[in-house]
Parts: sequence; structure tokens; C-alpha cells
Amino acid sequence: MPSGPTVQELPELVAERRGVRLRLLRDDWRHPELPGNKWRKLKYNLLAAREQGQKTLLTFGGAYSNHLAAVAAAGRLQGFDTIGVVRGEEAAALSPTLQQCRADGMQLHFVSREDYRRRTDDAWVRELLTDLGPAYVLPEGGTNALALRGVAELVQELDEAGEAYDALAVACGTGGTLAGLLTGLDGRKQAVGVAALKGADWLRAEVDALTEHVTGRRYANYHVHLDAHFGGYAKHSTELLGFVEEFYLRHRVVLDPVYTAKLLAGTLQLIEQGHFVPGSTVLAVHTGGLQGWAGFQQRFGAWAPAAV
Ligand SMILES: Cc1ncc(COP(=O)(O)O)c(C=O)c1O
Repeated sequence: MPSGPTVQELPELVAERRGVRLRLLRDDWRHPELPGNKWRKLKYNLLAAREQGQKTLLTFGGAYSNHLAAVAAAGRLQGFDTIGVVRGEEAAALSPTLQQCRADGMQLHFVSREDYRRRTDDAWVRELLTDLGPAYVLPEGGTNALALRGVAELVQELDEAGEAYDALAVACGTGGTLAGLLTGLDGRKQAVGVAALKGADWLRAEVDALTEHVTGRRYANYHVHLDAHFGGYAKHSTELLGFVEEFYLRHRVVLDPVYTAKLLAGTLQLIEQGHFVPGSTVLAVHTGGLQGWAGFQQRFGAWAPAAV
């Protein structure tokens, strides 16, 4: 495991033309089994679970969720039992993600899509705990106040390593990672979040609510880019897969098709649109997610870079 941030240059013509230096933080290399934002979001939650004397972690996700996979692996590594409350009925063939979750010892509890919509309803979660036993509950995507605290440490590590940059860019699902970066930056420098979901106009309000909850502040030093969703969350897009392939050939970096491919495609769009002033350095954060390729291949038979 690298002891500090590993940063790689991403020479891109469009960036050169705009006078912008694009770099990639290999946060996917930060932890061997809990890549990118996963370890960061879980770190203080696992400590809290242990302090509370909890033996089980319970969380929520879809059949291809990186977060479910991370919680299952974290449970195995740190000696917690884990329960995954999974959206939708159990399919005849389990997704590769859920197979791995089970192999890591996670108990899978399938609920209807209708019930799953109640995942933030305290009364429903209490019912679940009555049925399944006591557990430390992690929300979907692992986003909560303690997750933001873990993500904020990324900024601290960059400071300690003396990394110079003007803007951080990250992919957004729930917005927790972006919110954590904003609290770490505390108004210094810029941040960009690229939405992986279609129609995510709620994201800004969500990020503001998260930072306000944790630091009492809303930050203005960020932009949410909504135009690089490539059809929506985990949708198949020939254009996006083409981008992943070409990106791999140019940089030998494997992006995942759900989050980080959109991050890089969206960041390049913003550079082209002149969003960043000439002379600035943009540091995109590779948050991992590569386990998602197996599910993509199962569902779509999609091409994946040889290195996956
Ligand atoms: C690989 C990867 N990158 C980025 C994100 C976005 O994180 P967040 O939900 O905190 O916005 C996720 C979400 O789970 C993810 O799995």
C-alpha cells in the first residue's frame, strides 16, 4: 500500500490547448481491497461500530454496488459480520458483486424495490434490525458525517505531500465523497463533481446539506457537472466504453464504467468548455470501482480493458 498520494500525469491534447495540466490521483491504489473512497468512507464508521460494541455491519445497495462489495470485504478484514440489504428480488444467477459479497461472508437480505425505497425511514430500519438482529447501520453508499471526515483526510494527505493543484475533480453518486473533499478543502481551491446519475439536479442541495451538517457551512467553491452521465447510472453506452478503451490506450489507466470513466470524460468536457483558467492544475481522483466491470460484462458482454 503506498504510504502517500500517488499522482500520475494525464497528457491530453484538449488540456494542452486550454493550458490546463490534468493529473490523476491514484486513490484506487491506496488500499488493496477497499479502493478509493471506500476505505476513506468506512474508516471512522468501523471505529464507531467497534466503540459501540457492535459485531455486525448492515448496509444497503443494488446487485452491482461497489459499496456493498466494500462493506463485505471490510467485514472480512476487520472481523465484523455483515448484512447486505439488497434492492430487488433474488435473481436466479447472482451478480458477480453479490457472489463476492457472499464469499466474503455477507448475509444477503433481498427486499422488493418498493421496500428498498424506505431505506432511510427509521421505523423500517428498526423493523429490519428487529428481524435481523442488532447492527451498526451504514446508509446506502456509506455516506454520513463520519464518511465525510474520512474523505477529508485525502486533502490533508495532499497537503502533507506538498502536491500542488488548483482543483480536485471526483465522480458523484450520493455526493458524500465530494462533500468530504469540500470540508477538507474548507474553501481553499476549487472542486468539481461529475454526476454518474442522470438528472442529478438534487446533488448540489445534497452536498450542501452534508457539509452544513458536518461543518455548519455551505461551500461555494465547487461545480457539479451533470452532462457526463452517458444515459444514466450503470447504463450501457458504446460511446462511454469507447472512451474507456481510448483512455486506456493513451494512459494505461483502467477506468470503471459507472463512475470514474464519467469523471474523466466530464472533466475533459469542462476543460474544453474553458471551465478552468489557463495555467491551472486539475487533479482528478480515481476512486476505484473496478469490481463493477464483472457485472457489466455479465449484463452486457461488454468489452473491458485487458488489465481488468
Ligand atoms: C468508484 C466510485 N467512485 C465514486 C463514487 C461516488 O461516491 P459518492 O456516493 O460518495 O458520491 C462511488 C460511489 O459509491 C464509487 O463507487
